[in-house]
Amino acid sequence: MLTRAENETLTRVGPGTPMGNVLRQYWLPAVFSYEVAADGDPLRIRLLGEDLLAFRASDGRVGIVEPLCPHRGAGLFFGRNEECGLRCVYHGWKFDVDGRCIDMPSEPEESSFKDKVRLGAYPTRERNGVVWTYMGPRAEPPELPALEWNLVPPSQLHASKRMQESNWIQALEGGIDPAHAGFLHAPLGRKLDPRILRERYFLNDRHPRFELVDTPYGVRIGTRRNAEPGRYYWSITHYMAPYYNAFAFFDGQEQPSMGSFGWVPMDDVTTMAWCFTWNPARPLSDDEIRETYYLEQIGGGVHVEGDRLLPPTQEPGGAFRPAANRGNDYLIDRRAQRTTRFAGPPGMSAQDAALQESMGAIFDRTREHLGTSDATIIRMRRTLLQAARALAESGTVPAGVDAPETYRVRPAGIVLDASEDWSRAADGWINGKELTAPVLL
Ligand code: FES
Ligand SMILES: [Fe+2]
Repeated sequence: MLTRAENETLTRVGPGTPMGNVLRQYWLPAVFSYEVAADGDPLRIRLLGEDLLAFRASDGRVGIVEPLCPHRGAGLFFGRNEECGLRCVYHGWKFDVDGRCIDMPSEPEESSFKDKVRLGAYPTRERNGVVWTYMGPRAEPPELPALEWNLVPPSQLHASKRMQESNWIQALEGGIDPAHAGFLHAPLGRKLDPRILRERYFLNDRHPRFELVDTPYGVRIGTRRNAEPGRYYWSITHYMAPYYNAFAFFDGQEQPSMGSFGWVPMDDVTTMAWCFTWNPARPLSDDEIRETYYLEQIGGGVHVEGDRLLPPTQEPGGAFRPAANRGNDYLIDRRAQRTTRFAGPPGMSAQDAALQESMGAIFDRTREHLGTSDATIIRMRRTLLQAARALAESGTVPAGVDAPETYRVRPAGIVLDASEDWSRAADGWINGKELTAPVLL
């Protein structure tokens, strides 16, 4: 349970809020590269409560800028993206991706006025199909986090995203909550695949124990379930500050593909859930891509049951609104709930969204009752609240900002003798030094 004040601190992300200041220390995934074409239409986006425009100039660089023209405030969404800049169609002022005014045809040619006018612009970087932006205070931003999915060749990555109508913390709590998978996402009445450890052991032991290790990037999470007598199945996942997780998808293989989410706050009540599946050693198979349950991936084309999207709108995130949503009870199928799946909505993303959005836009955490299975959530909240306090009181830089290399970690699923130390067992794999996962059966 949190106090009302703690809940406010944890959830609010706008400019000047304590958590908004923490989040602005990190690079954010802003848009997919394919969403902005050179000289293409400006795209409305919202990040951390700020309305912005993204556009790609003729030279391929991406700008993330304020949406209103500094002349008299007209919307640059209606502007012309042409010849290396975005031109306001009210009086023709033109801005480059860095926000410099590079043309002011309504003023005398000899005037230096345009040198004094700036459009607010955030730095961007582009890597592996994702445009990142930095909304923080440093003149020289830190390095991008070395998340492995953002470094592998494109054939080894599948990425997608969907908009969620809830505060980011609710979504993040679901992502680092290993206990819910044995319920919310559990199949009924189908034979489980014994080659996938997750399937073999998750449903056998729905009361997992946790061990948590603080790391430079966040928390390494060991989730223990009973395996054969004298042995444990350890699922090793990560919470990476401020809003990523990493989890083992197809554990039990020597070259398993893995999953990672990033829950990027659009504002206090809307979150963009980015989903990445990657493999460090080989291209992803079609089956693996189908299993990744989100639509609108780089390259496009794969549709998954229950993960259809609505026709795009011009609103921020409007191309990524799921068809299964609050307005239709997430397409819950009560017959399926009795026969084939524990929860009714079709597909894991609809299941997560249904439960997380049902709490209301920002859940009142003074009303909750946390149990032993909520240990990861308690630790994550503590990490973030401490970061907010330390940044406000002494300017302490939050975890991971200046340790970008430490984000190169992988999840794992392994079976160990009861006496073995899980936190060291798969180190070479987890730290990205080996390309073969430990398969200990
Ligand atoms: S308002 Fe944009 S040029 Fe005048
Ligand atoms: Fe989930």
